[in-house]
Amino acid sequence: MRVLVTGGAGYLGSVCAAHLVENGHEVAVLDDLSTGHRDAVPDGCRFIEADLAEAAPAVLAEGFDGVLHFAAKSLVGESMEHPERYWQGNVVTTLRLLDAMRAQGTPRLVFSSTAATYGEPATVPITEDAPAAPTNTYGASKLAIDHAISSYVSAYGFAAVSLRYFNVAGAHGRFGERHAVETHLIPIVLQVASGLREAVQIYGEDWPTADGTCIRDYIHVDDLADAHVLALRHATPATHRIYNLGSGTGFSVREVIEACRAVTGHPLPARSAPRRAGDPAVLIASSERARAELGWQPTRTELHRIVTDAWAFNQRHLSLDRS
Ligand code: UFG
Repeated sequence: MRVLVTGGAGYLGSVCAAHLVENGHEVAVLDDLSTGHRDAVPDGCRFIEADLAEAAPAVLAEGFDGVLHFAAKSLVGESMEHPERYWQGNVVTTLRLLDAMRAQGTPRLVFSSTAATYGEPATVPITEDAPAAPTNTYGASKLAIDHAISSYVSAYGFAAVSLRYFNVAGAHGRFGERHAVETHLIPIVLQVASGLREAVQIYGEDWPTADGTCIRDYIHVDDLADAHVLALRHATPATHRIYNLGSGTGFSVREVIEACRAVTGHPLPARSAPRRAGDPAVLIASSERARAELGWQPTRTELHRIVTDAWAFNQRHLSLDRS
């Protein structure tokens, strides 16, 4: 297929673009490089540096079989301080994309959604039928887009899949997580191992969990990319399907730090810090629907494997930055 990947110079977009190329698709990456990196665009992809909202009509007029839409703002804290960036940058931009797809008859969309659409879960594991009650503007903006996609799909008949990610981590060779502002646990712990930070802060040790720290469902970015390739293939006209993507296993903050100690050999000093606002105690996905309907089989589910790949990427970039 001829596929447009928006945000394909970012972490998830670059890994998924690489998987699409490896699966024989013809890929164009569109990215404004506001948070992405030019050198993260995989070989074999055409690169279009542009603002998505402005460029979507002209780019889609070239004729694409599908769009994988990653371009978005994704910092929970920023979304609470500057909500306009999320309503404009995520919602309005995606409406422009949907209108351009409608005008050009682009038949398929795979959308990068998030577990943040659910908010504080009433029960775990979380299924797609759980109530959607986001606790932050980031999650609310992604949920609004899911609603918009559903109504465009029923009115205009294109095929759409929203994938709701849990905690994505790991790397795919030279493609990995390189955020200017890092808030995620695994990259922060690895920055301590690289000497870029002194210690890890543990946000709360009094949660109602076995070791008192929060539990999350970590999914390897390569498993996530496999799901995108399958979603593109299985997308059905006039249907909007929503799938959770997680490994179905939870690890606590302490277990993550311990796995990072084992992989890096660094003592990784950790300090107790207050709870972070908006953090639920436990988030674990049920991905049964993706397994049953897409035939998705996550295979890199061991925490050790996820951290090993993230660490290899981290070391590679550190040596490139120093050379
Ligand atoms: N944590 C720490 N110290 C840190 C960073 C994180 O203790 O320095 C803890 C957090 O409190 C949380 C866990 O590690 O308990 C994971 O935190 P992350 O920031 O790595 O990930 P989140 O679970 O907060 O966020 C993820 C996605 C978001 C998405 C959210 C949905 O990264 O994009 O799940 O709930 F919005």
